[in-house]
Amino acid sequence: MSSDSNLTFAFEQSTSPLPLNERARLLEDPGFGRVFTDHMVTIRYKEGQGWHDPKVHQRRPLEMDPASAVLHYAQEIFEGLKAYRTKDGGASLFRADANARRFRASAERLAMAPLPEDLFLESCRQLVKADRDWIPESEGSALYLRPFMIASSVFLGVRPADEYLYIVIASSVGSYFKGGAPSVTLWVSDHFNRAGPGGTGAAKCGGNYAASLLPQKEAIAEGCDQVIFLDTVEKKWIEELGGMNVFFVMDDGSMITPPLGDTILPGITRDSLLTLARDRGISLREERYSIDQWQADARSGRLREAFACGTAAVVTPIGRVRGRDGLDFMIGNGGPGLQTEQLRTSLVDIQRGLAPDPYKWVERVF
Ligand code: PLP
Ligand code: COI
Repeated sequence: MSSDSNLTFAFEQSTSPLPLNERARLLEDPGFGRVFTDHMVTIRYKEGQGWHDPKVHQRRPLEMDPASAVLHYAQEIFEGLKAYRTKDGGASLFRADANARRFRASAERLAMAPLPEDLFLESCRQLVKADRDWIPESEGSALYLRPFMIASSVFLGVRPADEYLYIVIASSVGSYFKGGAPSVTLWVSDHFNRAGPGGTGAAKCGGNYAASLLPQKEAIAEGCDQVIFLDTVEKKWIEELGGMNVFFVMDDGSMITPPLGDTILPGITRDSLLTLARDRGISLREERYSIDQWQADARSGRLREAFACGTAAVVTPIGRVRGRDGLDFMIGNGGPGLQTEQLRTSLVDIQRGLAPDPYKWVERVF
């Protein structure tokens, strides 16, 4: 088992894999992020020594010094990607190279040691092979890979660490939203921000998600599913959800999505949908869109559909938008729209190997 970085992965088979009948029971309805596999990957980094000791081994708790830098200053990044079961019982990854690139960009923003992209890719392949029996088969389910990196230096001074631990764990997943919700209701966060100019919004670091938890809690308390964030400067431009990008579909079929910058995560699903839409001749604008305009367009019928997208959420229709001071409007009839459904199906069919893959997005693992 080798990778282009000339590092060879050691493999230690789990000595206590979950019994087959228990695994089968869990895979029937895994939900999201609750069911974990038998193995994990670890790779270590030390300044002067570089990346070393890549291993696939039994999934087990970490032992850490309580002064490990990540526990104090949140020097941590992660990724999320899925392995899909193919019709013939194999497995494939979707655009894992894009996740490897984004992981490196996140590492740079958090002043962490960048992991070579080929090591990222090989670590994902290794875990998918080790945990091949954990890839669920039913439509809408997959093996969700969670690569992440933490600062493991034992030091309380505030500076970039010189030791890092890279880990990949895997989780058998179904739908991100309970019961595979047909559409979601969003809560507009008007006083909490997710990311500001010059901040870490475009990096996939745990701190961004920590900042989103209180507004997300507020959204739930208001009876909504997810929070949607506005820009921090003018508090009017729509940015993204806590874990998803957003698209708007107008009555002429054209689409708008907020432009990337340093406050929005460059989603791989977003990029894939832009490509698919462009190739279908859909007119696209990566353009700022305000909350007031969204409300006006939804009320006048100029806006027909809206959806959120991401690896975990795939493509999820937005049915209703609410916020403070009585802000409340429906999108279309509140249910899934036709164009949203068509784009979702095109994407999912490529991911699952049910449609041709003209962009070479799918990599067969075994
Ligand atoms: N925006 C945020 C904040 C996210 O956490 C995610 C999920 O990864 C996305 C957007 C969508 O990104 P992707 O499509 O690469 O999963
Ligand atoms: C993903 O879609 O992979 C995400 O990371 C979103 C969320 C689960 C944090």
